[in-house]
Amino acid sequence: MNPEENKIQAKKIVVAIDGHSSCGKSTIARDLAKAVNYKYIDSGAMYRAVTLYCIENGLFEGNRLDEETLKEKIQQIHITFKHNQTTGKSDTFLGDRNIEKEIRSMAVAEKVSPVAAVGFVRQALVRQQQAMGIDKGIVMDGRDIGTIVFPDAELKIFVTARPEIRAKRRQAELSAKGETITIEEVLRNLETRDLIDSTRKDGPLRKADDAITFDNSDMTIEEQNRRMQDIFKQYATY
Ligand code: DC
Repeated sequence: MNPEENKIQAKKIVVAIDGHSSCGKSTIARDLAKAVNYKYIDSGAMYRAVTLYCIENGLFEGNRLDEETLKEKIQQIHITFKHNQTTGKSDTFLGDRNIEKEIRSMAVAEKVSPVAAVGFVRQALVRQQQAMGIDKGIVMDGRDIGTIVFPDAELKIFVTARPEIRAKRRQAELSAKGETITIEEVLRNLETRDLIDSTRKDGPLRKADDAITFDNSDMTIEEQNRRMQDIFKQYATY
């Protein structure tokens, strides 16, 4: 191990990355975790997994969610992450099933905000997220990571980007997966999710007072990674 790595090992920290939908949080978090050899957890994938469970088990009647049944079932919903050798990324599992592809669909995106607004869902997932960070050396992204999940995180980042940039990025992501959708539809979905995420009672999306704002509207991925690693080094080493 070189001395630089040694320093990072010496002071493992928790990195909390929050921000609006589709502003690149996951890419930032995943790339940072890889560069510094930390664990990466996509907390949004957990809310998406619960949403997929609700859709597949008939807990949605139109847009109405059967919270009573979900409350009975929530402890039986087992979400885990496993490294995928082929993609080099981590895949989300619901029980034994790899659901990585399904949870990224528009069908799930359209229903996830009401699920993520349910108090007992948040309590259950926040508890699991906190357990994952007990040994530190973790980068987690979401909406309430710096405020609720890890209020004592050593490094908090609040990512933002202009709405039209976010919509374009999301459209490209969906189109790479074969989903064709207009920019207006994407923008509408992003704005609706942001509104529900920011105004809900439990764990609303808001910038923690001690978070660093990171606007990546005009940054390339390489630039954003370089800047993030520079910030990280100021907090993880001494
Ligand atoms: O980051 P994402 O778009 O995959 O998140 C999916 C949804 O889950 C998003 O609409 C808000 C919600 N979410 C949340 O409420 N709290 C988190 N920590 C992460 C995501």
